[in-house]
Amino acid sequence: MRTTIRQLEAMKSRGDKIPMITAYDYTSAGIVDRAGIPVILVGDSLGQVILGYDSTLSVTMEDMIYHVRPVIRGASNAQVVVDMPFMSYQEGPKIALHNAGRLLKEGGAQSVKLEGGASVVESVRIIVEAGIPVMGHIGLTPQSQNQLGTRVQGKTVVKAMELIDQAIALEQAGAYSIVLELVPAELAELITERLSIPTIGIGAGPGCDGQVLVFHDLLGLYIDQDFKHSRRYANFADDAKTAVSTYVSDVQARSFPSGEESHNMDREVFEQLLIKLKDNVSIDGNH
Ligand code: KIV
Repeated sequence: MRTTIRQLEAMKSRGDKIPMITAYDYTSAGIVDRAGIPVILVGDSLGQVILGYDSTLSVTMEDMIYHVRPVIRGASNAQVVVDMPFMSYQEGPKIALHNAGRLLKEGGAQSVKLEGGASVVESVRIIVEAGIPVMGHIGLTPQSQNQLGTRVQGKTVVKAMELIDQAIALEQAGAYSIVLELVPAELAELITERLSIPTIGIGAGPGCDGQVLVFHDLLGLYIDQDFKHSRRYANFADDAKTAVSTYVSDVQARSFPSGEESHNMDREVFEQLLIKLKDNVSIDGNH
């Protein structure tokens, strides 16, 4: 039984923190699911960490559907929320509802996430009314990076008030949770206190109801960028490089594969084969 949005709200009420992590394929989904993660995000950060783009802007609906499917197959306990990619909802509520529906119908996700405040409130309302749970995302919203840059948001009184208003409007529109990205810790705490739905922070301090990290950042797999707000729990890129270069050396030195790593023929069969080959006899017995 997968984590439900009601269980996430109950976690907030009890004061239990909510860990969320991204996954983009069957194997990583299985790992994080077995590790006890209640919410998996198929984030459009796959644009950078899987597809090698320099932002999330080129990610398509087809990319998201393609990646959410194996995550659903790999994880059977977590709530799987999938990002609506750039321009799949910005044109208005009708197209937003159509694409949110595709992510559930064709991708198999349980909920969708979309970025923005006032401009997306109507879309959130319509998607939720259609029975599709929505996670909001405010603060630094990477799909608007050409407007916002990559700085911490909400650092003035006016901007902080704007973010508080956006969070309340999203909750009123029916969002079941909101990601707060790159906002000052004090502001994230103020927003969290004002909402009955859980906030999930990234670069938003410890006062949020939950935290989200990108799988590749947590494991030290994506080393193109180091974020102040991310914590690296392992150095898989280094370990993988060492493992692969050891494999290269082993093949070159003929130490891989060893006898134990090979499959052998029955001795008698092999000897018969050698005799046949020596006599130059083909399979039907003719010379
Ligand atoms: O795409 C993503 O991974 C995200 C998280 C960073 C919140 O949106």
